[in-house]
Amino acid sequence: MDKELKSQVLRLFLQFVQKHVPLSEAVIASLGGEGREAAIWQEHGIPDSNGWLIERNRKRSANLISQLPYRYTSSLASFSRVFRSVAGSSRGVDAFHLDLCGTIEPNIDIARRIIPLVVQSRGRCLAITVADARRNASVDNFGKIEKWLSALLGFRYQRMRERLEAEQGKDRELAIMREIGFFFSITDLFLFYGRYRMPNRVRRYAYISHTSGAPFPMRTYFFHFSDKPQRIAAPKFARYLYGEWFKEPLYDLNRPPQEIVRTKETVVMSNGLKRLRAMAEAAGGEVLEALESLVAAAGNDRFTKFMGELTMLVASHGGQQLVASPTTSGKRKTTPGRNGDFLEAQVELLKAKAKSKVAYNKARIEVGMKFLEGPGRKSKKKAALTARAMFAQTQKGHRGGFMKRLAEHRPGLLNDTLAEYYTGITGVEVTLQDLRKEAGLQ
Ligand SMILES: C[S@@+](CC[C@H](N)C(=O)[O-])C[C@H]1O[C@@H](n2cnc3c(N)ncnc32)[C@H](O)[C@@H]1O
Repeated sequence: MDKELKSQVLRLFLQFVQKHVPLSEAVIASLGGEGREAAIWQEHGIPDSNGWLIERNRKRSANLISQLPYRYTSSLASFSRVFRSVAGSSRGVDAFHLDLCGTIEPNIDIARRIIPLVVQSRGRCLAITVADARRNASVDNFGKIEKWLSALLGFRYQRMRERLEAEQGKDRELAIMREIGFFFSITDLFLFYGRYRMPNRVRRYAYISHTSGAPFPMRTYFFHFSDKPQRIAAPKFARYLYGEWFKEPLYDLNRPPQEIVRTKETVVMSNGLKRLRAMAEAAGGEVLEALESLVAAAGNDRFTKFMGELTMLVASHGGQQLVASPTTSGKRKTTPGRNGDFLEAQVELLKAKAKSKVAYNKARIEVGMKFLEGPGRKSKKKAALTARAMFAQTQKGHRGGFMKRLAEHRPGLLNDTLAEYYTGITGVEVTLQDLRKEAGLQ
């Protein structure tokens, strides 16, 4: 397997796209370069007539044309016109990778022409790769950008800085300025004739690429758009984008996952968690009720996961019966998660989570209903909470234990498909070998 981190990101982008359109049907385009990305398309079965390479450099274009089966055009500026004249004006590009080997700032106007093509497709996925160079136009104009963004985001601007510092380190001022500058460019890029294209999923990767022979820091951002552009004011869009930006953490592929800086929120939450744990153990049922309403009110994924875990904990410490084994009907199970059906249901949840948000929400209710017991307590909301707690037991620090239990129950459940689910969910490549190691099998 190619260890180059950029190649990993390119593969992750295809997985991201696959959630919205099968790769065998996806129309995909990127800047050509040396053809590395197009070779990955071939590996993944992108049909010849669906791939588009854009390359202005003559030597590289000649190589691309002679070595790859995909369609070719020479200029990014005229790509949308050429594409429409070949594919028809109603067709869109399911996945576009804007990989300019530079920064976005000087290319906004050219890039803007691409977005409508993406938004009118079925996949609606965009990736943007930028050089994470020490200085760029945003760093040079940071004073202005900061002023504009403060006006757009209000108090959230300061909050954004704090979140980036917590995520990337206080000493990484230039990196933070570059990300803020990129964010600002996006608020401009996604505006088209008075309407904003609304990304409903944002993923951020930082990594060192060696594609040019030397180590080169890069960032790639993935976006998935909702189908309807909106006529909203710039501050409203900026606030919306801010919310989407931090729904997922920055995936820093240069650092092993356990080294990722704990954000201020996770520190505050885990301290709070310790206190809540003590209270929950003492108080049981009432605390459970309070937690449930908190979970229902929470919007943040990480917070809800914590709450899910805590809900499960309260249930196993004498709170009201929330999670039980189907085989012990009526009797509370003291060691939830050790029974085979329970483990297999957790795998179902992983599969659904890796597939899509809709599939996961559906699976949560189905799975939760199976494992929720007690008279009058089978509400969809509670089922979803139960399933969320079950899912939380398969993640992060719990994964090793989960792998061990799976291996004890049915070793065949540890397979490449399971590793793919984790890769899809975490955004970082997880191999079967990693999972087997965590299970203590090698
Ligand atoms: C980073 S490389 C692309 C690498 C490729 N996506 C990969 O991963 O294999 C960027 C390429 O875009 C080309 N390029 C930059 N701006 C362009 C433009 N406006 N029109 C056409 N090609 C452009 C450059 O010549 C360069 O070869």
